[in-house]
Amino acid sequence: MPACGRSAAKPMNPEIRVLDDGKELAREAADLFVWLGEQALREGRAFRVTLSGGSTPRVLHAALAGPPFANRLEWSRLEFYFGDERCVPPDHPESNYGMANETLFRPLKIAEKQIFRMGGETPDHDQAARQYEEMVRARVCPAGSPWPVFDLILLGLGEDAHTASLFPGTAALDESRRLVVANTAPQGIKNRITLTAPAINHARTIVFLVSGAGKAKAVAGVLHDRSVDSRRAPAKLIRPVAGRIIWFLDRAAASALPVSQQDLTYDEE
Ligand code: 6PG
Repeated sequence: MPACGRSAAKPMNPEIRVLDDGKELAREAADLFVWLGEQALREGRAFRVTLSGGSTPRVLHAALAGPPFANRLEWSRLEFYFGDERCVPPDHPESNYGMANETLFRPLKIAEKQIFRMGGETPDHDQAARQYEEMVRARVCPAGSPWPVFDLILLGLGEDAHTASLFPGTAALDESRRLVVANTAPQGIKNRITLTAPAINHARTIVFLVSGAGKAKAVAGVLHDRSVDSRRAPAKLIRPVAGRIIWFLDRAAASALPVSQQDLTYDEE
């Protein structure tokens, strides 16, 4: 069982794991991914995981697609969803689906029917968001509940403390009813589709993977600086309702945190 493999009896504060470098971060995160997957499959249910975009997940995907992790899971019983997508076709170099397909789905021979991608190519972005929401409601929300319970949601963090495509000062931050909305990014591909914070917060386990000194200020703003609010640091909106949240940081990304806050697991008082 990975070091942070305890199951949460009640909502817990963020668990912070500081690793030496990106490689160790990927290995630890892959170990937790597979451990959670083994648990779900042992309980006889599909393992529903939501992938994040950008570049950081590439190291995790490479770890999962190789030994020892590739052989530890019955990959055909997993379902892959997305936390956000750029509004581009799936074969576009900026597509989050395209990156996952290249680094994870193809190497692990994941079947099309296991992959639930957002319609980045749909011209009407709000329609694409609503279509994804409808699918998530049907497949991931427990009977009678308006909120999806993903087994694992993987997230990254931008230097502006955005996560998924929840960017500072944007309308998506105020969404309290919808699961998926269209939103805009201040740089790069402007139009996005994203899970909302409440949709993310109902997951069993939420994992942030953050590496590099460029993210240190954003990490400290989210995890330590109470003067920074969630409109400026949207990742602060990510607080599991009943699940666990674990931050995997490399030393560079953790470098602006007080030493006392590094590599500790916080139990709720
Ligand atoms: C996206 C992601 C986004 C990402 C952060 C960090 O679509 O870009 O979902 O939230 O996780 O921007 O990106 P890097 O890993 O590339 O630094």
